[in-house]
Amino acid sequence: MASSFLSVSLLFIGLHAADGFMHYVVSRCDFNSTDLKDIEFIRSYSYNKLEIIRFSSSVGKYVGYTELGVKNAENWNKDPSELAAMRAQKETVCQHNIKIWYDAALTKSAEPKVFLSSATPPGGKHSSMLVCSVFDFYPKNIKVSWIRDGQPETAGVTSTDELADGDWYYQTHSHLEYTPSRSGEKISCMVEHISLSKPLVTDWDPSMPEPERNKIAIGASGLILGLTLSLAGFIYYKRKARGRILVPSN
Ligand SMILES: *[C@@H]1O[C@H](CO)[C@@H](O)[C@H](O)[C@H]1NC(C)=O
Repeated sequence: MASSFLSVSLLFIGLHAADGFMHYVVSRCDFNSTDLKDIEFIRSYSYNKLEIIRFSSSVGKYVGYTELGVKNAENWNKDPSELAAMRAQKETVCQHNIKIWYDAALTKSAEPKVFLSSATPPGGKHSSMLVCSVFDFYPKNIKVSWIRDGQPETAGVTSTDELADGDWYYQTHSHLEYTPSRSGEKISCMVEHISLSKPLVTDWDPSMPEPERNKIAIGASGLILGLTLSLAGFIYYKRKARGRILVPSN
């Protein structure tokens, strides 16, 4: 979680608009763990989109950025009870809510689903391409790699970012462009994710994928059924015709 520094705006305190002037205050907690040392509380005051004053728990007092802000910061910093209240926010507001966030969502994970398919390479020096599609995993961090005959394969690999599905799940797609070797080789896609106790290795099966096989089976069954029925019809017709000829008509 170190790379994805999470930021959650917990409170939207005040909004006053009059004749196009706007003043607003945003309080937020930046964190990457539930530890107090990994949490920063920031309350920021803006006037007409310009930040004028800010309290940050890492500074421990108000800092002004405009004339008005500097003047206010000076006054507020003289008030020990105001500063004590602000310094307590990190623990009372941030840590309290961050613990709830971790319990409810941030410590949870969802196992990826992996699908391997072949695709047409976009041209270039390789004749084949495989796509390893990884769906429905959470959290975002994931590692997708390729193994060719037991060796890690990094040449010819391109991957998408982790794409947010918008429902907390992510997907990502890794492409391997390669030239098949004459002897049959084994190519696998390996996925490493916090939800998995060991890497998930999916082998490429060069035989036809299941849906294709099904389509062919259904088509073949239809063809055989049609041929059988037409043959039966033909025999029936022949018999009838023969019968008709054999019956004397005098
Ligand atoms: C959180 O971030 C700080 C500063 O970037 C870093 O020193 C610390 O190790 C991180 N903690 C975790 C749990 O990732």
